[in-house]
Amino acid sequence: MCAKIKSDKYIKSPLNYTGGKYKILAPIYEILPERVGTFVDLFAGGFNVGINANASNIICNDQINYIIDLYQYFQSQSTEKVIQEISRRIDEFELSQQNADGYNKLRSRYNKEKDIMDFFVLICFAFNHQIRFNNSHQFNTPFGKERSSYNRNIENNLILFCDAIHSKNINFLNTDFLSVDLSALGENDLVYCDPPYLISTGSYNDGKRGFKDWTEKEEHQLLDLLDRLNAHGVMFALSNVFYHKGMSNEILIEWSKNYIVNYIDKSYSNCSYHFKDRNAKTVEVLITNFERREPDCQQLSLQL
Ligand SMILES: C[S@@+](CC[C@H](N)C(=O)[O-])C[C@H]1O[C@@H](n2cnc3c(N)ncnc32)[C@H](O)[C@@H]1O
Repeated sequence: MCAKIKSDKYIKSPLNYTGGKYKILAPIYEILPERVGTFVDLFAGGFNVGINANASNIICNDQINYIIDLYQYFQSQSTEKVIQEISRRIDEFELSQQNADGYNKLRSRYNKEKDIMDFFVLICFAFNHQIRFNNSHQFNTPFGKERSSYNRNIENNLILFCDAIHSKNINFLNTDFLSVDLSALGENDLVYCDPPYLISTGSYNDGKRGFKDWTEKEEHQLLDLLDRLNAHGVMFALSNVFYHKGMSNEILIEWSKNYIVNYIDKSYSNCSYHFKDRNAKTVEVLITNFERREPDCQQLSLQL
């Protein structure tokens, strides 16, 4: 029997992104093809999935311009320069896990000047590293007192992330998913979608943050788009949940019957939707229009 791929072989986003897929990259990548032509991460967020893609081209899109600006900055600068810019700000504002005043001053400067590295450093020291804006796009996450800082883990993740941005062929886009031009894609290409979930809310999609909300309308538009990609022979993979905190996404469950449902928590794979305690569970799925790839047992046993 094949062992599971260890998750630490993957690059982790330096952003602690709500809904980030780092922890389930191993099961996701067990299902995706080993290599593709173009890999589109249509709702990239922390970009945990796209940054790990083995592809000739990677397209990274998100509607939040600040995140895409940050990745483009990482792409345009050496990793050393990025690290220096962080140290400079930590010194200038005397940032630490205790200095709320320094954090608030940096936040005020960011909200006036919108400097992209101020944004990154703020996230490091913010409560739960959360990215939250008000309706006028002012960053408003409070200070992460005694808990958040720019620590060694973040720095290691950042270095590996920037190095990958430099070594891979990545194009960044900042637009609504419906405006991304997917018309040139063919059968070797894959569109990965990790949209906001209709039945749960992240701070980026509660409709109060100055960014477009996610409602049944967008859910239908996305499922229609995936149907069109399927009709053109383009591969897709959609991360989502069928059940969460007592709610179910019936639109998705119905639509998924035309495709392949890969249960990310494998304990649900044999019980269809009729398990006993479904209200207490989150049932996470990856819906694809292709069969999961055969596990490469020889390669896995070499890694052990
Ligand atoms: C669940 S998060 C993605 C997390 C990501 N897969 C990761 O591992 O970090 C969903 C993302 O979709 C983005 N989003 C929401 N509505 C969108 C839209 N209409 N067009 C493009 N992106 C959108 C949000 O800004 C958010 O970053």
